[in-house]
Formats: sequence, C-alpha cells, structure tokens
Amino acid sequence: MKYIVISSGLRPGSNSRTMAESLCDRLREIGEETELLALSDHEMPFCDGKDYLDHPTTQLFREKVASADGIVLATPVYNYDANAAAKNFIEITGQAWQNKVVGFLCAAGGEKSYMSIMALANSLMLDFRCVIIPRFVYATGGAVTDETVVERTHELADELIRFTTGLNSD
Ligand SMILES: Cc1cc2nc3c(=O)[nH]c(=O)nc-3n(C[C@H](O)[C@H](O)[C@H](O)COP(=O)(O)O)c2cc1C
Repeated sequence: MKYIVISSGLRPGSNSRTMAESLCDRLREIGEETELLALSDHEMPFCDGKDYLDHPTTQLFREKVASADGIVLATPVYNYDANAAAKNFIEITGQAWQNKVVGFLCAAGGEKSYMSIMALANSLMLDFRCVIIPRFVYATGGAVTDETVVERTHELADELIRFTTGLNSD
C-alpha cells in the first residue's frame, strides 16, 4: 500500500506539519511506503473553476493523490474548519480522491474546536465516497509532541493500515 500525508499548514514551524512528520516517521518505521506532501513547499493555484486545471501543480497534486491508497490530511483548525489551503487542495484535486481511505491530524489553538473537521470529512464521504477513519488526532498548542498525542498518532497509523489493506484486499 502507498500512503500520503498532506500537510496544509503554511506557516514556518507549523504544529500540524510536526504532526504530519510524526505520522510519516511512524509509518516508515513500520515499513510502509509513505510520502509527505507539504503544501508550503509548492505554489498552489486557487481553484477558480477553470484555469487551475492547466497549472502544473494541479497535475502534480492530482497524480500524488491518485497514486495513494490511504491519505491523511494534517491541518490547522481555522474558524472551526480545516484551513483554506486544505479546502483549496481538495477543490483542485477533486475526483482523484475517489474511494480513498482518509484520516485526519488537527492542530488547534483550543480544545473546543474538536468537531471542526467534520464538515470536510462529510464532503469527502459524500462527494468522493472516501472512507473516513473514525479516529482523529487533535492537539492544542504545544501539545503536539506530548506522549498522548504521539500515542494517538501511532494508533492512527495502525488504523490507516488496517482500513487501507482491509478495503483493498480481494
Ligand atoms: C485565522 C485563524 C483562525 C483560527 N481558528 C481557530 C479555531 O476556530 N479554533 C481553534 O481551536 N484554533 C483556531 N486557531 C488557532 C490555530 O488552530 C492554531 O494556532 C494552530 O496551531 C495552527 O496550526 P499550525 O501550527 O499548523 O499553523 C486559528 C488561527 C488562525 C490564524
């Protein structure tokens, strides 16, 4: 199986990127083929409904999503939602998400935004028939490297593998 971890945090030193790297490390430690795709490393076009299709980054991102069996999105929580970069990424990659197994890592400022990822999860389920792993990792502030968060990240890695291999076996 092939896994891709998308980091949509754009600021240097982003907590969600730290979470994404931690998950990648764990998956590689287990021996899984894993790629980190950090949106901050690319010039991503806005989804304008037309010209974005011709942009080389759109093609690149679509190929990366399409080639993965399991995808984890690591996102900052902005305004009780994923950040706009994550939403834009999904808009420009669209149908490449069909039938993928998807998990989430969320970096937030406070504890009360725990449900924030649900709107995006719902749209992936209904738009692209994604199978959402019902175990999110949610961390506030500097807690991203706390033992409990690392433990939950390991549990997410296990669940990602379990769902992805289970759903792709004959
Ligand atoms: C525009 C903006 C909106 C935010 N909205 C929320 C929010 O709704 N809930 C929350 O818990 N934190 C919110 N935060 C705090 C961020 O989630 C927090 O700083 C997080 O660490 C950002 O992730 P990053 O470190 O990967 O950039 C917001 C921050 C910004 C800049």
